[in-house]
Amino acid sequence: MGCHRPFGAREIPNPGSRWGTVPRFASGNAMMYAKDRGQIEELVRFGAPVAWLEDPRASERLAGQRVRMPAYGEALSEREIADLTAFACAVEGVEPAGGEAAAAGRELARRQGCHSCHGPEGSGGMPNPGSLGGFVPGFLGGNFSDLVRDEAEFREWVLDGTSRRLAANPLVRTFWRRQLLSMPAYRGELTGEELTQLWAWVEATRASSPE
Ligand code: HEC
Repeated sequence: MGCHRPFGAREIPNPGSRWGTVPRFASGNAMMYAKDRGQIEELVRFGAPVAWLEDPRASERLAGQRVRMPAYGEALSEREIADLTAFACAVEGVEPAGGEAAAAGRELARRQGCHSCHGPEGSGGMPNPGSLGGFVPGFLGGNFSDLVRDEAEFREWVLDGTSRRLAANPLVRTFWRRQLLSMPAYRGELTGEELTQLWAWVEATRASSPE
């Protein structure tokens, strides 16, 4: 993350490289470097897609640029490489998970601005000073099931901006009062079908990302 600046930040210049900067995550620009999941994995493992390494002109350019993507193949386990590949694909929208309903949900989430707080593909969000974890929670990983047990609770969060189950806990309520960002209530703005699509997107994203 020292090189790939966080969501929304300016990119670090990288003279000599193809596009002149170290690409930022979640800007959709992975598509300029990798055309599919396989090439993203090669980027993690070898520091560049194999097709580039085998192409003399591309290798020459790589050799001349100021900063090069390190090859993590030796340093990481297969499991870690798989996790990182899944993360990069999720935030970059490469081969997005799920069927039609999930795609509609993803598009809706983008229009409604869910990503601006929860991070791209719900991968984890904006800093949230005063909150329990310090960040707006994402939808991936184990914590999600503590906050959202099922579709009914998901709908409650989205419609009312809260969870009755968690609101019963005084400690949780204290954090909610203090934290900078709160979950907005979308009641009246989303139809039942749209809620189903959002849930399909969340489930597909979770299924595609190793816990
Ligand atoms: C202004 C920032 C903001 C926006 C925009 C936003 N949320 Fe949230 N969301 C939050 C915060 C803050 C919480 C509360 C987490 C906590 O308890 O601290 C939350 C909680 C949630 C939760 C339950 C906790 C979890 O696992 O993340 C879900 C599900 C959720 N939001 C879905 C959505 C969806 C879907 C959208 C778009 C329709 C959306 N949010 C838009 C800030 C936001």
